[in-house]
Amino acid sequence: MRDVHKVFPRGNKPLPRKISVLTCYDFTFAKLLEEAEVDSILVGDSLGMVVQGQRSTLPVTLDEMIYHAKAARRGAPKTFIVTDLPFLSYQVSLEDAIQNAGRVMKETDCDAVKIEGGSDEILELVRKLERIGVPVMGHIGLTPQSINVFGGHKVQGKADQESAKLLREAKDLSNAGAFSVVLELVPAHLANEITSSIHVPTIGIGAGPGTDGQVLVLYDLLGLNKDFHPKFLKTFLDGHGAVLGAIQKYKGEVESGTYPGPENSY
Ligand code: KIV
Repeated sequence: MRDVHKVFPRGNKPLPRKISVLTCYDFTFAKLLEEAEVDSILVGDSLGMVVQGQRSTLPVTLDEMIYHAKAARRGAPKTFIVTDLPFLSYQVSLEDAIQNAGRVMKETDCDAVKIEGGSDEILELVRKLERIGVPVMGHIGLTPQSINVFGGHKVQGKADQESAKLLREAKDLSNAGAFSVVLELVPAHLANEITSSIHVPTIGIGAGPGTDGQVLVLYDLLGLNKDFHPKFLKTFLDGHGAVLGAIQKYKGEVESGTYPGPENSY
């Protein structure tokens, strides 16, 4: 379903059911996500870390986001896809940001873009993009493109002043026309307060159960990285063990000559 208002309904809360969002960066997983009827796919710049092996999301380029969003769209033609605008593709100037968001929409056939932050410049950009027909998802709290300012993956909004700022930013983004706001690494009570204070759905990651929906990085949900265990993460599969086991089995069978057997030969 690719209708922004159906996937991310505005208005009355609580929503009849929570919204499921997962990141995805390729054709094969996108096909699976569509089969599972996940509400929305986020082609997140987290691909910089989980696909490219970078230390942060900062090195990811616009061309790389477009490449992955195109692949995801081919796998999930009916799913609402949001694509992250990467670091420095929307912070330099309004004109530059519009050109870059436009490229993402034109070249990938995705349905919306996501941008981080709640400053006046970001609000101006959200308003402008909405006016020209580009739906925008906001993202506040721990915004990974500013990781060097935060000094690490720390919970945001613990102090009164910080939580008031996040509440203000969420309201401003909603009023500026964002169709949804991601809340990353914020205390559950603050996420609840934000969720009941704005008219658009909040999507949480490390923000407790009270948001209107949840998002996770697909590779994290699948437990592919055995060394990554933040408190907010629930792994729904021992992906590391399962995939490693399959690869080791293949290696063993190749070495012993068991694979390919007669049933795999022409
Ligand atoms: O890039 C990403 O995957 C994200 C989610 C963690 C929200 O922004």
